[in-house]
Amino acid sequence: MLDDLESLNGVGSATASKLRSAGYTTIEAIAVTPPREIMEKTNVGFNTILKIQAAARQMITTDFKTAQEFYEKRKTMKRCTTGSKKLNEALGGGIETQALTEFIGEYGSGKTQICLMISVTAQLPAEQGGLEGNVAFIDTEGTFMPERVYQIASARGLDPQTVAKNILVARAYNSSHQCLLIDRLFTLCAENDIKLVIIDSMISHFRGEYVGRENLAERQQKLNQYLHKLVRLSEAYNLAIVLTNQVQANPTAFFGDPNRPAGGNVMAHACTHRVFLRKGSKGTRIARVIDSPCLPEVPTRFQITDKGIEDTEED
Ligand SMILES: Nc1ncnc2c1ncn2[C@@H]1O[C@H](COP(=O)(O)OP(=O)(O)OP(=O)(O)O)[C@@H](O)[C@H]1O
Ligand SMILES: [Mg+2]
Repeated sequence: MLDDLESLNGVGSATASKLRSAGYTTIEAIAVTPPREIMEKTNVGFNTILKIQAAARQMITTDFKTAQEFYEKRKTMKRCTTGSKKLNEALGGGIETQALTEFIGEYGSGKTQICLMISVTAQLPAEQGGLEGNVAFIDTEGTFMPERVYQIASARGLDPQTVAKNILVARAYNSSHQCLLIDRLFTLCAENDIKLVIIDSMISHFRGEYVGRENLAERQQKLNQYLHKLVRLSEAYNLAIVLTNQVQANPTAFFGDPNRPAGGNVMAHACTHRVFLRKGSKGTRIARVIDSPCLPEVPTRFQITDKGIEDTEED
């Protein structure tokens, strides 16, 4: 019913087909996309778009809500297990839907391993800590390892073929391709019951392509635009979004950690939860939640094993 665009006031079959061929195939997508963007992609008049969007919003009620309605919406929020009880606790019970969770860390700190692990656990039933849905994985670095998905699924007693079939993977070759794939998510998530979206990494193409101070503003604007699309996606479909990010050297740091997350304030503001990862002793990993509005910043230890992510043995 939600993809019945013709049911919107002001949308005839001609407009509906323009919207569909521009990729706006659901009422949610129309409701949450900036009107200027729809205009540019469809050539439909601006005022018509505003009218259509008003109708779409009414249908999915993204307008003003009472605090009580917000509370009810928050109650539909779900959490996905990472496989480590300690890490789940540090995240307030697991990786939340209706939010962006960012894992930040240097080479080999375990970002991709966490992404691969939750691609499996997100499919589990709720009582086992899953989101009971499928997974969309945007791989920007060519490090998505299907073998590892099979290994984790088998080690957990799941059928690896079934698990692997429920993970939709796209390789993004540059930042504009990555943006295109993010736009595609609005349709993809509705059509494939996606409950977890992963972008590993959100930032590497942007960093590589927009080099130099003179390009920084443009880069940040684009990044901001796409991060906000992801926020809207997570809310419209009640799904979890996980992004990875690299650390960059901070030349102005005399004291404390000389590394800081890439992407600056834009990244910091868009992400609901930010988790720093680093290597610990004896092959363990240490996670620390930073800048959280409600979670304490206690360092948490976990380990990477054949089963994916687990608590360390001493715990
Ligand atoms: N089956 C396994 N058992 C134990 N440890 C493993 C296993 N598979 C991978 N690892 C560990 O995970 C590490 C790689 O971590 P990962 O690829 O997640 O890093 P990353 O943070 O994504 O780094 P990058 O910034 O390079 O993408 C390996 O160095 C290895 O220590
Ligand atoms: Mg990686």
